[in-house]
Amino acid sequence: MHSRRALLYMPGDDWKKITKALTLGVDCICMDMEDGVAVNKKAEARATIAKALRELDFGKNEKLARINAVGSGMEKEDIEAVLPYRPDGIVIPKMESLEQIQWAHEIIEAAELKNGWPMNSIRVVVGVETAKGILNLKEIASHPRLDALIFGGEDFAASVGATRTRDAVELLYARQAVVTAAAAFGLQAIDIVTIDFKDIEALRKESEFGAQLGYTGKQIIHPAQVEPVQAAFTPNNEAIAHAKRIVETFEARQKEGKGAYALDGKMIDMPFLKNAQKVLDRAKAAGKI
Ligand code: COA
Ligand code: MG
Repeated sequence: MHSRRALLYMPGDDWKKITKALTLGVDCICMDMEDGVAVNKKAEARATIAKALRELDFGKNEKLARINAVGSGMEKEDIEAVLPYRPDGIVIPKMESLEQIQWAHEIIEAAELKNGWPMNSIRVVVGVETAKGILNLKEIASHPRLDALIFGGEDFAASVGATRTRDAVELLYARQAVVTAAAAFGLQAIDIVTIDFKDIEALRKESEFGAQLGYTGKQIIHPAQVEPVQAAFTPNNEAIAHAKRIVETFEARQKEGKGAYALDGKMIDMPFLKNAQKVLDRAKAAGKI
């Protein structure tokens, strides 16, 4: 699975921002046809994204295209405009049911067959960001084409009529529901956008809290957000060293017949080992070990 510590959006009709994104060292570039694009620019966004996929070298950056929601009336034209040029994946916002993913899956599968691309090589990432989406998380997250779930804070607030606050308490239930469903199905979980892109301190705090909740990455909207977010979702050296010590000591203690033992005055047992392995997996995905 591609590392997606930071998923950077830009309006799909903005060629300059697409080319700029290639210079930023960001894990994942998501060219948008949905809400970042004015209604009268949708056709231009489709054509510009197709051209970018055809002509630009994305190198190690993942290239994704976000279509309009299934049921918007725009989704079919969106996906058909970009799919022939082989994006790494399609992002579908405001996902509310398994049938909606199945719709995209069938179109993508047909393209894979037609072009001789490996089956299931084009991945799907969905935004679960409406009240209905949260209620149907279990069925949505079960689709085998999926790599990741995105939680959209602004859309969720709009869906339930919540007032957004800086510490985002009003999002907590849905934000944790998404991270839980993602973990249950082995998917990445990608957290809310920090809208105030000038406030890097707020961004760091929000990223750290997202990582504490179990999120593996975060959506971003501005170049200044790349470095702080990718750092926040990469385990630091201290966390890696501690995780390694747990893995090593755990094996030794198991052989001695001990399920629980003390390390630096704190109890260690199975859940600590599992969490330590997750830290090492994330460090590995980020190329740090
Ligand atoms: N991706 C790539 N490059 C971006 C970028 C993005 N998302 N946002 C800004 N840039 C570039 C600008 O083009 C500018 O480049 P330059 O210095 O080479 O001229 C530089 O970064 C600085 O941009 P800045 O002037 O600070 O921002 P802005 O006022 O031009 O734009 C936003 C602010 C919010 C409109 C812009 O960041 C943006 O479009 N973000 C993405 C919005 C989006 O896609 N929303 C939908 C998903 S939530
Ligand atoms: Mg949205």
